[in-house]
Order: sequence, then structure tokens, then C-alpha cells
Amino acid sequence: MTETFLDSAVENYIYELLPERDDVLLEMEEQARLRQIPIIGPAVARVLYQYAQLIHAQRIFELGSAIGYSTIWLARAVGAGGKVYYTDGSATNREEAQRYIERAGVADRIVMLTGDSMELLHSVEGEFDLIFNDVDKHQYPEAYRAAMPRIRSGGLFITDNVLWGGRVARNEADQNTQGVLEFNRLIYGSQDLFTTILPIRDGVAVCLKR
Ligand SMILES: C[S@@+](CC[C@H](N)C(=O)[O-])C[C@H]1O[C@@H](n2cnc3c(N)ncnc32)[C@H](O)[C@@H]1O
Repeated sequence: MTETFLDSAVENYIYELLPERDDVLLEMEEQARLRQIPIIGPAVARVLYQYAQLIHAQRIFELGSAIGYSTIWLARAVGAGGKVYYTDGSATNREEAQRYIERAGVADRIVMLTGDSMELLHSVEGEFDLIFNDVDKHQYPEAYRAAMPRIRSGGLFITDNVLWGGRVARNEADQNTQGVLEFNRLIYGSQDLFTTILPIRDGVAVCLKR
């Protein structure tokens, strides 16, 4: 589990309530714990899955996919006819993700792209029902600018780590905290979005595009 700002007993209670995942997801969670890979984990993954299903998402773009944990949850949410774009800067991550994605049985609905996620978004045409943002935190304002014009009306822009371990509330001076602070101002200030922050794990922003 990554850094959290919640009371640890409350955090543990939330995680204890969660139903068991399948073998592939459990192995990924274990690998993430052992190797400190910053995946969203099952509590936030369920938020993604739930919102994707609520809007019947069929076309999803992910900014920052790492070993494909969130990608697999999104791919299961869209179902057999849907499409999820995996993007990550690391070819090693992509190779590892590919293996998990095949074992999870969702390779047919995932397009895997390596490079800068925002550039890759520019290179793929069309609108998306949902864009999930989990790139490096100093890049969040850039991710906002790239994603906004690409989400359909009634679609969702979801972003992880928007409470950034509580550092946003302390206005810490580092680039990542400042990136998240600027991002949160943008998503609440936009006339084109209706935004809420869910204080689950490290904070998840759910933005409805008008
Ligand atoms: C927090 S991890 C993603 C975890 C993943 N969403 C999950 O929950 O399973 C962030 C990943 O984004 C990648 N990344 C960060 N900034 C990026 C960028 N601008 N373009 C492509 N990949 C990026 C990193 O390589 C890292 O693997």
C-alpha cells in the first residue's frame, strides 16, 4: 500500500471489506508491494470499475499504466466489445503488463502503446468515454490540458493521488505537490467539469464532463 493520509485503522478496515481478487490481480498486488510499484490497488480500482460501468464506457484512455493493474480492471469494466488504451514510458513495464494482461484474458480489448502518454493521446483519434490519469504528478496540469478536449460530453476524467499524502494541504514546495495543487485548481475551476474528490487511499478526483 502506498502512503496514505487516513487513519491507518480506518484504511485497514476499508481494505478488509474488499472481496478477494483473482490470482492474476493478487499476484500483481503482491509484486507491487514487494517492488514498490505505485499501483492504485483494489479500493481505487473498484472506483474506476464502478464509474466505467455506470456510464457504460466502451472506449477508455489511460495515462500512466505501469504493469497494467488499473488497465485490467478497466478492461474488465468495458467488457468484450470495449477498448482500453494502455500507455507507459517504460518498455519493461509494457512487457510485464502484457504477460499479466494475457493471463487475465483481456488482451483482445487492450491497445498497448509505449512513449509519453500525453503525446500518445494526441496520436490516437476520437473521443473517449473515460480518461484515467496516473502519470508523474508534476505533469498533472499537462495531462489535464491533453485530456480535456478528448472526453465526450457526459464522460469522465478520473485522476489518482490528488491528495498526495496530504502534502497538498500543507502547500509543500516540491514540483509534484505543486503540480497536483495546480491540477486541483484547474479541475474545480473548469466550467466544463463537475468535480468531486473521493478521499479513498491517496484521493481520487472524479470529474464529469458537461
Ligand atoms: C503510478 S504508476 C501507474 C500505475 C497504474 N495506473 C496502476 O494503478 O496500475 C505511473 C506510471 O506512469 C508512467 N509515467 C509517468 N509519467 C509518464 C508519462 N508522461 N508518459 C508515459 N508514462 C508515464 C511511469 O512509468 C509509471 O509506470
